Amino acid sequence: MTRDMNVAIIGTKFMGKAHSHAWKSAPNFFDVPIRPVLKVACGTDESSLKAFAERWGWQEISTNWQDVIAREDIDIVDISVPQYLHHDIAVAAAKAGKHIFCEKPMAMNLTQAQAMLKAAQDAGVVHYINHNYRRVPAVMLAKQLIDEGKIGRIFHWRGCYLQSWITDPNFPLTWHLRKETAGSGPHGDLNSHSIDLARFLVGDIKSVVGMTTNFIKERSLPGAGAATFSAGSGGATEKGEVTVEDAAFMVVEFENGALGSFEATRFAPGRKNYNYFEIYGSKGSLIFDLERMNELQYFSEADPNYAQGFRTILATESVHSYVANWWPPGHIIGYEHEFTHAVVDFLKAVDSGGVIRPNFEDGVAETRVLEAGLKAAASGQRVMVAEL
Ligand SMILES: NC(=O)c1ccc[n+]([C@@H]2O[C@H](COP(=O)([O-])OP(=O)(O)OC[C@H]3O[C@@H](n4cnc5c(N)ncnc54)[C@H](O)[C@@H]3O)[C@@H](O)[C@H]2O)c1
Repeated sequence: MTRDMNVAIIGTKFMGKAHSHAWKSAPNFFDVPIRPVLKVACGTDESSLKAFAERWGWQEISTNWQDVIAREDIDIVDISVPQYLHHDIAVAAAKAGKHIFCEKPMAMNLTQAQAMLKAAQDAGVVHYINHNYRRVPAVMLAKQLIDEGKIGRIFHWRGCYLQSWITDPNFPLTWHLRKETAGSGPHGDLNSHSIDLARFLVGDIKSVVGMTTNFIKERSLPGAGAATFSAGSGGATEKGEVTVEDAAFMVVEFENGALGSFEATRFAPGRKNYNYFEIYGSKGSLIFDLERMNELQYFSEADPNYAQGFRTILATESVHSYVANWWPPGHIIGYEHEFTHAVVDFLKAVDSGGVIRPNFEDGVAETRVLEAGLKAAASGQRVMVAEL
């Protein structure tokens, strides 16, 4: 029997929109044991909040997240705000007994991430970090092929996450570019996703060397209405310092002996959201490119050598994860579907009292690698992840 549970979303812009879509679409396409009721949308700007709530069907609005958490009728808290707020909201939500669906990167640092995990464990609530790319059917297929032994012993992970949205020096100093609100730049923002995928597909990371850099050290302060992903100073002329890195590269050793590389930058013109990885093993190889997200490339050493080569698998058959609930073969899915898949699995975990991955435990492990990367970059030394 399906039961209702009330959701409060905190943050109503980019992720607020993606998550709202997911809360709404999950029960339409999947048999979920819990019907999410879109109860409260919480943000900072009352007028845009009203329009947001009306458009997406949130019943009420609030500009005070503490009030929202204090409400007894809220069962699930969706944290879609910048990461400097994740810790305080997640700990308060856990203490109030709410299940937590939280955006990445989990926290500003390892101490915060550990406190979030402890609060959620102490409260016995379901906790989830939204690394949505795990739930792309083609990525799930990569996981299946690895688990079936088709790739054999993994030698290499080669991952990159490249974007270009701050290449323009006129792009304003948004919250993403300040340490006190973002923690770090593309390292926490983009490498966090790649680390999660690497941990999912290859395994835990043992040691890290890293390098970061800044290309543009000052930017105009954002004017009223400056858009997150569009350039333009909004008329402001006053400048402020960029206090996070613009690019972060890492070379890592996995616990299982594989070697890996990670590249994260927001300075790669032509690369809009280029989340890409290659995995090389003793029996085969895999390539995934988010910009062609319905496809997985697979090379098998088992193929006769006269017919060897990367084959492109269109992961839209009903046997591929989640696909049977959407469309017939070849009728591709997109970015927003990843979030729906996460919501579906989250609701199942809440209903069964089970676990969804990646959760706060994964978040802590990932934050450790992120911190190791920054420490390695600052020191120029190789850093053992377990020593953090
Ligand atoms: N999973 C992904 O692929 C993905 C993609 C983009 C962003 N993110 C993450 O999602 C989070 C939000 O990013 P975004 O791009 O949606 O940011 P955004 O700037 O588009 O939106 C931030 C929202 O937070 C709200 N907010 C800020 N302070 C608040 C407060 N004190 N109380 C209530 N609301 C407040 C703002 O009003 C706004 O609605 C970040 O942690 C980011 O790293 C994840």
